Amino acid sequence: MNKIDTLLMTNKVLITCGTGGVGKTTLSCALGVRAAELGRKTIVITIDPAKRLATALGLDSLTHDATEIALKDVPGKLFALMPDTQRSFEEFFDAISPTSQISEKIKSNPIFQILGQEFSGAHEYMALQKLSKVYNSGEYDLIILDTPPNRQALAFFEAPRLLKKFFDEKWIRHLIVPSSRLAAGSIRKALEMLEKLTGVGFITHLISFAASVFETEKKFTERLEQVIHVLESKETGFIFVATAKPELAYEMNHFISELERRGYRFNGLIFNRSLSKLAVSQDLPASAALIIQQWIKKEELTLSRLSSESIAIIPECSRDIHSIGDLTHVARLFVH
Ligand SMILES: Nc1ncnc2c1ncn2[C@@H]1O[C@H](COP(=O)(O)OP(=O)(O)O)[C@@H](O)[C@H]1O
Ligand SMILES: [Mg+2]
Repeated sequence: MNKIDTLLMTNKVLITCGTGGVGKTTLSCALGVRAAELGRKTIVITIDPAKRLATALGLDSLTHDATEIALKDVPGKLFALMPDTQRSFEEFFDAISPTSQISEKIKSNPIFQILGQEFSGAHEYMALQKLSKVYNSGEYDLIILDTPPNRQALAFFEAPRLLKKFFDEKWIRHLIVPSSRLAAGSIRKALEMLEKLTGVGFITHLISFAASVFETEKKFTERLEQVIHVLESKETGFIFVATAKPELAYEMNHFISELERRGYRFNGLIFNRSLSKLAVSQDLPASAALIIQQWIKKEELTLSRLSSESIAIIPECSRDIHSIGDLTHVARLFVH
């Protein structure tokens, strides 16, 4: 059995990482098609499918729930899901708030709206929450998680830690639950001054928001631990998707050591958009042929440094991959 099939058959969770634009979403969906071909009941949690791919997957109406993708003559099943961050946030606080009043207080706070849209870790964290929820449902043999677009491949792992920091930060706790009357008085004075600078309401909203969120601390931490449990599981693996570039070996080593530091498992590199099999036509102008040959050389050099990590090489396809047929085509390329 080839490396990709072995992973699809033995893992319960596969997480595709890599910088933006390398083909994570495309390959996550193609891996899903391959897993269904192998008989697995699979779900792909994708964050940002290109418009036409989303349409092909039936995800363009932002249903937020799993949609089955009709595949012909395959023994398994394939589902896709695109979490809506704002809605996931609402559901999340509904689930972890001790009372519905607290949850309403959080959701109606203007800071909540800003966090859902602007906070850079929100998409990452909500994707992880969705992963944990789908994982705990036990409904699928395999979950493939496509990570959100980010220039930094590792930003994804920072989200849980960043959120946990919120509860650990002494100054935030101090601000909300001052240790003495004197401290409370001084803090109020300082805040009144700040409010003058930031505009009426902002600081008040911020404090009120933080205080409500603190009420969810116990369950929030429990959820965070569930997420970390899934990420640390022996049945969860991380795949790095990349295209040729000189600094790839360095990036990969950094990625692998960061995974190891956190106790996560590295499952290998998928090298995408390879030009190595491109036939250089005789009709091409000499200058164009030279550029392509140089590119292929650069790619060979990159790959020679990473041969032990590489689990698949996917060639550059002649057009964008945006239909089920295209995904099936790429799924075949994993095998041959
Ligand atoms: N092997 C490939 N050949 C041709 N086009 C590809 C290939 N892989 C990805 N693409 C195209 O590249 C674009 C970016 O891919 P995408 O999967 O959205 O990247 P990411 O999720 O890493 O940001 C899409 O238009 C996709 O169709
Ligand atoms: Mg993507």
